[in-house]
Amino acid sequence: MSGAVLILGATTGIGRAVARELARTRRSLVVAGRDLEELQTLAADLRVRYGVGAVACRFDARASEGLGAFFRECVEAAGGRLEGVVLCFGYAGSQQRAESDWEETVAIIQTNFLSAVRLLNLAADHLKEAGAGFICGITSVAGDRGRQSNYIYGSAKAALGVYLQGLRDRLSGAGVTVTTIKPGFVDTPMTFGRPGLRGLASPQRVARVIRRAIERGRAVVYVPWFWRWIMLFLRLVPERIFRRLRL
Ligand SMILES: NC(=O)c1ccc[n+]([C@@H]2O[C@H](COP(=O)([O-])OP(=O)(O)OC[C@H]3O[C@@H](n4cnc5c(N)ncnc54)[C@H](OP(=O)(O)O)[C@@H]3O)[C@@H](O)[C@H]2O)c1
Repeated sequence: MSGAVLILGATTGIGRAVARELARTRRSLVVAGRDLEELQTLAADLRVRYGVGAVACRFDARASEGLGAFFRECVEAAGGRLEGVVLCFGYAGSQQRAESDWEETVAIIQTNFLSAVRLLNLAADHLKEAGAGFICGITSVAGDRGRQSNYIYGSAKAALGVYLQGLRDRLSGAGVTVTTIKPGFVDTPMTFGRPGLRGLASPQRVARVIRRAIERGRAVVYVPWFWRWIMLFLRLVPERIFRRLRL
């Protein structure tokens, strides 16, 4: 099991697809999330289907006090050494609710930024000491430009993007690569039932792109690729015009 990849937020959507994609390419895994029963079922399925080592660990990104102990548990479950960490968990929340409900704002920032930073700090130290490995973090195109419909989530993702950028520089030369993934709209529980979303990518497609990006040590990858150009265009639209688009 030594050299396993830790997947943070593996129960559903992109995280679950990444777990399958990495197992398919013969990597042992520690699958982590909130629902231990679901994770144990997933780990058992990965062991049987792909013949790889897979264990489940539980954490809750809303409970920041326990994250140090949780990370140590994951390293132990991996036999003392992780090959890499893929940070998949996230919480879109409700922008509308967050505007008047501070608890919702805290939930969005705590999950998407604070706990992500706590866990990736620990991952960075672990991998740096080993002198090899990778970190891959999922941010979002929502972090590329503040929009009135989701700027609380977007700002947390933007902050995570800047964190990953700095971490990439810090770990360059230490044998550890840091990859930022920026998905557009993906067909997962996070987008289920949200009106007006077109051209959703499948989580399997996103997972394949993530695996390739990790293997190639890429810095920043938009998925699907065309979102790089959509966001470049949107970033260039002047504020006065952008406001009228009511995005
Ligand atoms: N879907 C999109 O269109 C889209 C676009 C851009 C970026 N993203 C990002 O992609 C990543 C994966 O999202 P997804 O689309 O696959 O959505 P998803 O299916 O809703 O997955 C979100 C994952 O985060 C976990 N999570 C949420 N709150 C948590 C907490 N407090 N503690 C631990 N785990 C928690 C969920 O676990 P539970 O099952 O326990 O809730 C789930 O495993 C997220 O970072 C998301 O922000 C998604």
